[in-house]
Amino acid sequence: MEKRTSVIAFFCVVWSAVAAIQVDIPQDQYEFARGDNITLPCKFQSALSSLKLAIISWTAGETVILTHYHPAGVTNINPKYQGRVSVDVNINGGTGKADLKLSSITMADNNEIRCLVLIPNDDEGKPADAATLTVLVGPSPPICKVQGKAEYGQNINLTCYSEEGSPPLSYKWESRDVKNTPRTLTSGTDQGGILSLSDISKETSGFYICTSSNNISSATCNISLAVNPPNMDIDSPAGQR
Ligand SMILES: *[C@@H]1O[C@H](CO)[C@@H](O)[C@H](O)[C@H]1NC(C)=O
Ligand SMILES: *[C@@H]1O[C@H](CO)[C@@H](O)[C@H](O)[C@H]1NC(C)=O
Repeated sequence: MEKRTSVIAFFCVVWSAVAAIQVDIPQDQYEFARGDNITLPCKFQSALSSLKLAIISWTAGETVILTHYHPAGVTNINPKYQGRVSVDVNINGGTGKADLKLSSITMADNNEIRCLVLIPNDDEGKPADAATLTVLVGPSPPICKVQGKAEYGQNINLTCYSEEGSPPLSYKWESRDVKNTPRTLTSGTDQGGILSLSDISKETSGFYICTSSNNISSATCNISLAVNPPNMDIDSPAGQR
């Protein structure tokens, strides 16, 4: 009995879905890396079985990116987007798609994007759908520095920071001894990319490699650290590499 009720409910939902225009962008959120060439899908289904006229437009925030006229096959593109957008339209009876293709995306493309389909005599239902476009950026090469004196017995911090990166970056330090053999660090990297080394000695000398990463890409720096006895007159070559 319960099953039959849900079957009836299901048919009601399907029926109401085809009784008027339904525009659908499948996901609420799209994430792509900066520089990518992307396709944002838009599907639609009309209550009419054949479309004599349809006007499809894509917008980013308040800006109209393009407008396509069916069946004329004419697409008007906003001059701001000229040369980097197109729309892939395919209409079959009362259903169709109008996918937006956008090349070489930049941070300026972070926006709410919308697909709107206008069909005469089919204006009930859901004539538009929206999604958020998020542009992701891998880390820029990290800038790494030594804070403190590279002398026996001192406590120093090695810092690692990438100026650019979205979503937020995570940092990890690794070390190699003076012969470039990997070794285990006794203290870990904090969230901000700082490695604290305490009571340093000659053995602390070596290479320190920091990797900053997010799910887009990663980048590294490589510091050569030379720890010397205190009060040495010669400048220690503990700089950044
Ligand atoms: C994007 O397409 C352009 C040509 O329109 C091409 O030069 C470029 O390499 C493509 N970029 C990527 C990341 O595929
Ligand atoms: C770090 O730099 C040193 C000196 O240039 C080099 O020998 C070593 O291979 C580098 N290590 C990594 C992991 O890049």
